[in-house]
Amino acid sequence: MTERIAQYIAEVQAFQTTDKSELEAFRIKFSGKKGILNEFFAAFKEVPNHQKKEFGQVINSLKVVVEEKIKMIQDFLESREDSNPIYGDLSRPGEPIKIGSRHPISLVKNQITDIFASIGFNVSEGPEIEDDWHNFTALNLPEYHPARDMQDTFFIQTDPDVLLRTHTSSVQVRYMEENKPPIRTISPGRVFRNEAVSSRSHCIFHQVEGLYIDKDVSFADLKQTLLYFTKEMFGKSKIRLRPSYFPFTEPSAEVDIYWGLKTETDYRITKGTGWLEIMGCGMVDPNVLTNCGINAEEYTGFAFGMGIERIAMLLYQISDIRMFYENDVRFLEQFKSSI
Ligand code: DAH
Repeated sequence: MTERIAQYIAEVQAFQTTDKSELEAFRIKFSGKKGILNEFFAAFKEVPNHQKKEFGQVINSLKVVVEEKIKMIQDFLESREDSNPIYGDLSRPGEPIKIGSRHPISLVKNQITDIFASIGFNVSEGPEIEDDWHNFTALNLPEYHPARDMQDTFFIQTDPDVLLRTHTSSVQVRYMEENKPPIRTISPGRVFRNEAVSSRSHCIFHQVEGLYIDKDVSFADLKQTLLYFTKEMFGKSKIRLRPSYFPFTEPSAEVDIYWGLKTETDYRITKGTGWLEIMGCGMVDPNVLTNCGINAEEYTGFAFGMGIERIAMLLYQISDIRMFYENDVRFLEQFKSSI
């Protein structure tokens, strides 16, 4: 009998299956009610007393081997089920969702438009592909005007000229053609110039254009509006307007803000003067009003335009304009904001 048990032990040890019903048949064969183990336990009663100890130990070892085998195969089958169910492991923790961040250009654009919105400006937009009239001629820049050289242009087609707008001033023209004064609008957008790309300039960049047209609008209104903006945007309350030239404004000015000279960076970015140029502005030239169907005898207005990249570079201390367009997440991730 001991020999038969030893054979069974060998059989149990050799048993392998990946099939649940085969495992169940194996369990019934050995541990079922009428199974081999119970058969041996029944026979145990008939064994003479002096052999009981030895025989008992042998049956027990068969029982242990059977139980271990069943447990091992069951565990294996269950682990295989876990790793491959339709929905995966439903108890596993959720994967964290990566939250993106706004592009620094959008952040600055939103900040600028919010400030002007708080003093009654709406937001307007125009096409990036423009015609000669809206980008140049209506803005007092007729063909062969030397000031066209200030803005190297990407032409898509010539005669008639179709081009990528070189500034957002084209949106002023479209807005005035379609709306009657009073006009208070701010036009952010992308502009294009045929210029070599370097750390300071790019062939694609962004501007915000502002336009205010009403009765009795004066240069003092322009200055106060810009002063309010610089206070809100930069926390600086000293500005100066230097005479300048733009074909679409008369008089024209360049706006500088007093940045200060507290740190080494202040010295570097203001070239030791403490002053920083941030935009161009002026009183809208009466020719432009007339070109856009607005009575220049009745209305006056001011306009201004600024580069968003330049302001973002100042605010965030970014030294290379190309970083805005490389989409390197290590750069972009640094600009977390709620706006
Ligand atoms: N369009 C000018 C440029 O791209 C910026 C500008 C200057 C816009 C003066 C204006 C303005 O509206 O009044 O350089």
